Amino acid sequence: MSLGDRLRDAGQGHLAEALDRLQGPAHDHLRAEIEALDLPLVTRLVEELRAGGGAHDLGEIAPPAPETLIALPRDDADREREARARTAGEDLLRAGGVAAVLLAGGQGTRLGFDGPKGLFPFAPISGRTLFAHHAAKIAALRTRYATDLPWYVLTSPQNDDATRAAFEEAGWFGLDPASVRLVVQGTLPAVDRATGRILLERPDRLALSPDGHGGLLSALRRSGALDEMAAAGIRTMFTFQVDNPLARVCRPEFLGHHFLEAADMSSVVVRKVGPEEKMGVIARIDGRAGVVEYSDLPDELAQQRDDDGELVYWAGSIAVHCVDVAFAQTLTRGGLDLPYHHALKKVPHVDADGRPVEPDAPNAIKFETFLFDALPAAERTVTVEAAREDEFSPIKNAEGADSPATARRDLNRLYARWLTAAGVAVPSGPDGEPVDLEIDPRRALDAAELNASVTPDLRIDGPTVLGPLEG
Ligand code: UTP
Repeated sequence: MSLGDRLRDAGQGHLAEALDRLQGPAHDHLRAEIEALDLPLVTRLVEELRAGGGAHDLGEIAPPAPETLIALPRDDADREREARARTAGEDLLRAGGVAAVLLAGGQGTRLGFDGPKGLFPFAPISGRTLFAHHAAKIAALRTRYATDLPWYVLTSPQNDDATRAAFEEAGWFGLDPASVRLVVQGTLPAVDRATGRILLERPDRLALSPDGHGGLLSALRRSGALDEMAAAGIRTMFTFQVDNPLARVCRPEFLGHHFLEAADMSSVVVRKVGPEEKMGVIARIDGRAGVVEYSDLPDELAQQRDDDGELVYWAGSIAVHCVDVAFAQTLTRGGLDLPYHHALKKVPHVDADGRPVEPDAPNAIKFETFLFDALPAAERTVTVEAAREDEFSPIKNAEGADSPATARRDLNRLYARWLTAAGVAVPSGPDGEPVDLEIDPRRALDAAELNASVTPDLRIDGPTVLGPLEG
């Protein structure tokens, strides 16, 4: 069947007409993009959209199985378990059984930063970028555990070139370039919300966007990265998101709990501050572990409290996971079938005459898969609680909650706690918050390391950077 017929069959005949209007390189460009589309998939997604279905059709929601939840240590038995987990995690790191996987393929539209979000200069004094900060953690872990710790970075066709150029320009942040691998995820087209027609961003270009962080697994499989990891003896991937500067990369306690429980995939959670907080929670969905997005959690469940007055659905996912390589291989064998979520967005595009349209209301649906939707396929899973103030303060929005300002505040508070615990007084600014502080992860990855590196002459009189820092 010709391409035009296939498009008409799929209800996307307008793309055949758009192609007919073009010549030369513009025609070739659009044709290549259309040929690369998974038309049967897009057709299925549009049909699901029309039928009002999609990933939000959840089954029966119940609290997570208690035996899969590991809360913050409260008594000696908990602390012993935590110590065992730490030892197991450290052994796994030393043995080279772990790869760090950074999700950085998103578009960061809410932040409104021009370029990959990883290049956002979040650090209050040095202006260091998120990529540089995470890279320093990787370097510090390699030194601490005398291990290779390969680093995989998920990019998208929209930001891969810019990311690669930035890594190169930064000399790969001092890491061996062969030890860092950028893996490009797939894309899906945005469709008009009313007609299901694929939108054109320009006359010769589809409105494509990354297919969600669930695209990680197929991208790892397609690129050969999964096989590469298996061949290198890597057992577990530690996955984290680029926009959380507090991420405790490869925290050995988490790795150890995952390992000791022989889990396929595990998650880090923090306690939700209240029922309304916009965070997905770990739950049981039709008897399987999974994440329920905040918008899908019925209000009466979000509000539900136990006999101690605690939220029943308290375990807010911070999108940090362990994913076993063998599990990812099984999942992606013969194609991965994660559910597609629909996001209603404003997508600028061109009309049938090639004129630009700037919508003033959401006009389009984007389809995305989420990494956490792999959880229900796990035979074994653990959910490990972390202290929010130690591990989570994402940069999502330009202002207000979850913004650069809140992340900087939370990092200042974290570093101030470390310094105070090490016996170093930290002054506050006029707002009562600690002065701006930066601690390079290669100086200290945690309070104990900082304590060990503090010299008696260390005084903090104002904004302070504790290096090494270059790069
Ligand atoms: P978000 O869901 O916050 O999306 O991604 P985003 O694209 O960064 O920002 P908005 O929604 O456009 O404002 C959470 C993490 O998952 C990664 C992001 O890079 C971020 O680290 N991600 C998201 C991907 O790697 N690929 C995707 O397709 C989507």
